[in-house]
Amino acid sequence: MAFWSSLPLQFVLLSLVAFFFKRYRDRRAANPQGLPYPSGPTPIPIFGNYFQLPKVAPWETYEQWGKQYGEVVHMENLSEHSIIINSAKVANDLLEKRSNKYSDRPPLLMLNMMGWDFDLGFIGYGPRWREHRRLFHQEFRQAAAQRYMHTTLGKAHELIRRTLESPDHYLDHLRHFGGANILAIVYDYHVKDASDYYVKLVEKATVMMAESQLPGASAVDYFPVLKYLPGIRNYAKEGLRLTVEMCDYPFNYVKDRMSRGEGQECMASKLIERLQASGNTNPEDWDTIRCVSGAAYAAGADPIVAALGVFFVAMVLHPDVQKKAQEEIDRVVGDDRLPNYDDRESLPYVEALYREVLRWRPALPLSISHATTEEDVYEGFFIPKGTTVLMNLWAIHRDERTYPEATKFKPERYLNPDGTVKDNYPTSAFGGGRRICPGRYFADTGMWAVIALTLSSFNFSQSKDGTGHNMPGRYGDGMISHTLPFKYNMGVRSEKHAKLIEMTANA
Ligand code: HEM
Repeated sequence: MAFWSSLPLQFVLLSLVAFFFKRYRDRRAANPQGLPYPSGPTPIPIFGNYFQLPKVAPWETYEQWGKQYGEVVHMENLSEHSIIINSAKVANDLLEKRSNKYSDRPPLLMLNMMGWDFDLGFIGYGPRWREHRRLFHQEFRQAAAQRYMHTTLGKAHELIRRTLESPDHYLDHLRHFGGANILAIVYDYHVKDASDYYVKLVEKATVMMAESQLPGASAVDYFPVLKYLPGIRNYAKEGLRLTVEMCDYPFNYVKDRMSRGEGQECMASKLIERLQASGNTNPEDWDTIRCVSGAAYAAGADPIVAALGVFFVAMVLHPDVQKKAQEEIDRVVGDDRLPNYDDRESLPYVEALYREVLRWRPALPLSISHATTEEDVYEGFFIPKGTTVLMNLWAIHRDERTYPEATKFKPERYLNPDGTVKDNYPTSAFGGGRRICPGRYFADTGMWAVIALTLSSFNFSQSKDGTGHNMPGRYGDGMISHTLPFKYNMGVRSEKHAKLIEMTANA
């Protein structure tokens, strides 16, 4: 009896009652008609669906939920609402047509503790995001991205030279390409070898970021009190050290070179010059260009590497497709030179193959979460303000209504019966609405160059000794889902091709 009447316990019970009453009252006020939420798995009191959140390939479970509950699935974790969009129609209805309400990002405590709030990809919808996005867009819009094609082709040449030297490390060479390409464009920094500090830096930082981004991956986002635990504090501290280095080191490298009158023009130098020319000394504006350059560096490597990993898996698993693409390249380009961007329009099958890579296995299967800035009602269902919105690209790209035999790798779905390319580029691989990937044009040219050059130069196949963990087709569970290492055979197509590859060093 004394226990039940103790003052601290009464206080806790009263606080809980007050919390639930306030929550009920707020919800009622926001949703006076008492409209239902979209359907979804049944939540349990207090924790909601927290314990049902899948940790392994969550996009697959969400796709199943989509089949069970509908194209929009609702989940509740503690008092946080989330919806999963499982169809292109709903993505278009909400993220595009109602983009004024659906363009925020959910506040992710763990990411902020690791310093990722510098990155426009995680900044909330508002004036700061708009300014960062405007600057980014200036440098990566379609016309601007074309300026980088020469550098990108050079880095793709470097990739095939490395592959010629050590074909068993193709997946590592892809990673090197991703880092080297974006570092050259953003900071005019030219990576020498595979152990380059800046390449490793962005790799480590983005792995930590991706691990902490998916719902369920970071318990801190649901139980903020956990941020005081030493293990979590140390993890966040290490993440913060990496993000600070990632933004500061290469940016200072450019500033130092500019002060000595050295270096070629790059994204960061252009932004710096523009600011200097306007006489602007406002520290906030200087910080903006440091962050926007850092965001390009951080976002510009990893998704391309993941998407090219999918290309490689697809080719190893589908030798018939590989052969058909090589035949097209041989027919159009011949074997006296390697393909370049001028050949792109004349290689429809390679184009279709590239598009199918983007569709078949999206590199960010759940995109990056959006969030709502206002309440909304969609088809009679209530979607509260602050709801996290997951665009399930995996499910959207496997929708049989749009992509018959969706699980199959079929470049032909992008071709007309006469062999010309259809007008159905899978833009959704880059997300949707106002947050759509602003690096997509740059990604497109980089991926095409690597795909065309790799196909023209090498044959690759599944290794006979591949078993279990060495088999192709296994991917990571992070926000950016990478091909896991597997055993394969790779070799140059002929002596003539080897010579052509070597000659790219003098191009
Ligand atoms: C194949 C390669 C790539 C894929 C599949 C990809 C995919 C995506 C996706 C799905 C999003 C989320 C969009 C949304 O929220 O709706 C995104 C955002 C973003 N991407 Fe990419 N991306 C790629 C390459 C790049 C590159 C090369 C860069 C930089 C040069 C880049 C920069 C960004 C940035 C800054 C954002 C955040 C945009 C914002 O929040 O406003 N991406 N990307």
